[in-house]
Amino acid sequence: MSELASAFRMQALGCAKFGSAFYEALLNRAAEDIGAGGPTLSLMAPWAKATRKEVFADAAHLRLMGGLHDLVLSGDDQALAAAYPHPDRATDIAAAWAASRQAMITHRDRLAAFITHEPQTNEVRRSAVLLPGFLQIAKETGLPLATFEIAASAGLNLNWDRYAYRLGDRAWGDPASPVSIDCDWEGPAPALNAGIKVAARASCDRRPSRLSDPIQKRRMLAYIWPDQFERLARIRAAMDLALALDVRVEEADAVAWTASNAAPRAGQATVAYHSVFWQYMPAESQTALAAVLEAHGRAATAEAPFAWLRMEPAADNMARMELRLTLWPGGEERVLAEVHPHGAWVKWAG
Ligand SMILES: C[S@@+](CC[C@H](N)C(=O)[O-])C[C@H]1O[C@@H](n2cnc3c(N)ncnc32)[C@H](O)[C@@H]1O
Repeated sequence: MSELASAFRMQALGCAKFGSAFYEALLNRAAEDIGAGGPTLSLMAPWAKATRKEVFADAAHLRLMGGLHDLVLSGDDQALAAAYPHPDRATDIAAAWAASRQAMITHRDRLAAFITHEPQTNEVRRSAVLLPGFLQIAKETGLPLATFEIAASAGLNLNWDRYAYRLGDRAWGDPASPVSIDCDWEGPAPALNAGIKVAARASCDRRPSRLSDPIQKRRMLAYIWPDQFERLARIRAAMDLALALDVRVEEADAVAWTASNAAPRAGQATVAYHSVFWQYMPAESQTALAAVLEAHGRAATAEAPFAWLRMEPAADNMARMELRLTLWPGGEERVLAEVHPHGAWVKWAG
């Protein structure tokens, strides 16, 4: 089996594990088609000789899945749309694969162009993972928060305090919010009664997704797995809210932006936070950003504390996601929780 086909099969296992039976099946059919020299291989030609690691690094297989879903969302391929998952009917996988294969022939140029773009995603349910971290910082500092999101994509997790949450059987947030997020919870209760006041919020991304551009908005929706209807509905609601509130994400590199924007200030707890971003930076940028954050930490005082909150893979295991907090003065690094990559559950250490 080629490394390319093997990457498709491995991703199929990942999709099965994280709740997309549809992508499990579609990726396996696409892997077979690569082996048979079919249209999938023709479209994936830029990765035909790539190693499995390189295919994963580019998320090349997910680009193809995104391209097909984008075609569905555009309404430009009615046969494909009719065969794709829909909340009102069961999916016939043989029909969905046949329509996908045909779409790879009929819309070859369009799909080839789509997969040249690196994926751009923004997972709003990660707010449920970040929330208990913010609550912990508010509890420990007793101060309003000045929040700075690094690598915010479309900025959907900038509005974390404006959503309604269910963390296991506990509720937090505005019950009237158009965006509701539920998350399974294991472990002691988070600091739900810590008063939260967001005094400032700002964000950057190297390549922000502009929701006001219908093409970019659809591209982001296309990267949601098509049989995850709840996730699709939630991101649509979060996008509408972000547009209504005119959420801004500054186009800037993480290192320079964090250095010049996120220094601690008196009377507020300054929080620099990020999720699922660290691995996308080259090693030298990782070192530089860690140095910037630690310098802000060293400048912190009890009246001007500084927190570095992040949801990222564990240092010794990329498959295991953790919520970590370093709070200065003091600067001790803590693992607050083990978490699901899309925010479906939190195992809280507290
Ligand atoms: C997988 S997305 C995660 C987006 C968001 N944090 C979330 O959890 O949904 C990674 C993001 O990191 C951004 N990124 C990568 N390197 C960056 C850098 N050096 N500076 C700023 N943003 C960067 C990408 O543009 C992308 O939006």
